[in-house]
Amino acid sequence: MKFIFFCFTLFLFCWSSTCTINRQAGYPFKKPDLIYPTKVDLATTASKSDDQKKPKLTEQQIRGKKLFRKNCASCHRRNMVDDMTGPALQDVTDRWEGRETLLYDWIKNPQAVISSGDPYALALYKKWGEAEMSAFPKLTDENIDDLLTYIERE
Ligand code: HEC
Repeated sequence: MKFIFFCFTLFLFCWSSTCTINRQAGYPFKKPDLIYPTKVDLATTASKSDDQKKPKLTEQQIRGKKLFRKNCASCHRRNMVDDMTGPALQDVTDRWEGRETLLYDWIKNPQAVISSGDPYALALYKKWGEAEMSAFPKLTDENIDDLLTYIERE
């Protein structure tokens, strides 16, 4: 008798839970197979997420990132888009285009470039309320190459 009762309860339990599942799935008003689409466009989903991902950092950019975090991130935002104590560095190489050597000089010693009377450097210095960027005389040209490829990539 106990066994029959047990089977009955088990049956009731299974029946009610299937009903709930079916009801959640819209049963009987929707065909259940409409809810589980058989066609999933894997190609488009994959390419979408690939587009959003940035390409991996190169060895050189990793070196640049380390240098940036150590020396520059206290004044220049890491996202390169927002200003902080210093300006956002996004597209900075475009702003110094054709004057790359001066840009390297600037990073090594901004005050020297400002006192040389370069109009762009002077205007920038004025715009930033004459806030002084630290000089980095220890950075080599190679270090600055690394830094700039990282900045350009961000
Ligand atoms: C103490 C804060 C500070 C630090 C640290 C600092 N900067 Fe700056 N940076 C500034 C400020 C402020 C300016 C704006 C010009 C000025 O006021 O001298 C600037 C301007 C610049 C510019 C010119 C931006 C433009 O739009 O043309 C570059 C390039 C630059 N910084 C690169 C760097 C790099 C690379 C480092 C790290 C090696 C660094 N800065 C570290 C404060 C800083």
